[in-house]
Amino acid sequence: MSRASSKVTFPENIRVYKTDYSEPSLISALEGHDAVVSTISGSGLKEQQKIIDAAILAGVKRFIPSEYGIDVCHPKAMEIVPFFNQKQQINAYLRSKESQGITWTSVATGPFLDWGLQAGLFGFDFKNRSATFVDEGTQPFSTTILPTVGKAIASVLTHASDTENKRIFVHSFRTTQKQLLEILEKQTGRQKMSSGQGGVFELLQAAMFKGGCGSDFETEFEVHNDLLELRPDNL
Ligand SMILES: NC(=O)c1ccc[n+]([C@@H]2O[C@H](COP(=O)([O-])OP(=O)(O)OC[C@H]3O[C@@H](n4cnc5c(N)ncnc54)[C@H](OP(=O)(O)O)[C@@H]3O)[C@@H](O)[C@H]2O)c1
Repeated sequence: MSRASSKVTFPENIRVYKTDYSEPSLISALEGHDAVVSTISGSGLKEQQKIIDAAILAGVKRFIPSEYGIDVCHPKAMEIVPFFNQKQQINAYLRSKESQGITWTSVATGPFLDWGLQAGLFGFDFKNRSATFVDEGTQPFSTTILPTVGKAIASVLTHASDTENKRIFVHSFRTTQKQLLEILEKQTGRQKMSSGQGGVFELLQAAMFKGGCGSDFETEFEVHNDLLELRPDNL
């Protein structure tokens, strides 16, 4: 589904339903579908409440909310990253609707590794050869590459009963900022990156790389890679 006003383009083989997010439009888009996978942006998170209401009326069986990060329900993480509260509220809304016939699965993946390295989310500024570390960069955290995020979501739907009304944690690896830097330096043959100042992702980095804030799935939660039959990735 895409807004009528949207300038986003899609590959030709993707069927796109243009919607104004009104109830009749959403119901007509959702009727006959088993699941909704929401990838709505941070600014549109609240719209999900309307989509969930319409999904229930349309008989959709499973809703996957737009989460895909560290544990957005972690109290410390919510304190550090205010917009996690909106994701947590959608999670609570889904729980409150279980009796109306819809099921949900939220998918925590940690930061996207491949996308995040390019975007500067991991604290590495390739142009200026600088690195910003949280707590010396030694705290382990879970991270997932985008293809595995996609496989995990597909696998949630093919393991529908095992993942019903659950928070699911998947990752490609458990690593640290320091380990990533070592690999980057080795792979690029570059000189050591100097220590730099914080960037636009400071808030997220503070929660993701600090430890004890819901980002190290192996120690804080159960990792569900085996349940979803995800093959190991190679760091
Ligand atoms: N773990 C990570 O490293 C990581 C990284 C990035 C994102 N994420 C998460 O992934 C999810 C998707 O993020 P994204 O960056 O991919 O999103 P995005 O590209 O910024 O936006 C996705 C789509 O949301 C729709 N949208 C935007 N504003 C809207 C509004 N006000 N009302 C309705 N629809 C709206 C737009 O679709 P149309 O224009 O087609 O209507 C847009 O193309 C979020 O939950 C985000 O936090 C995680």
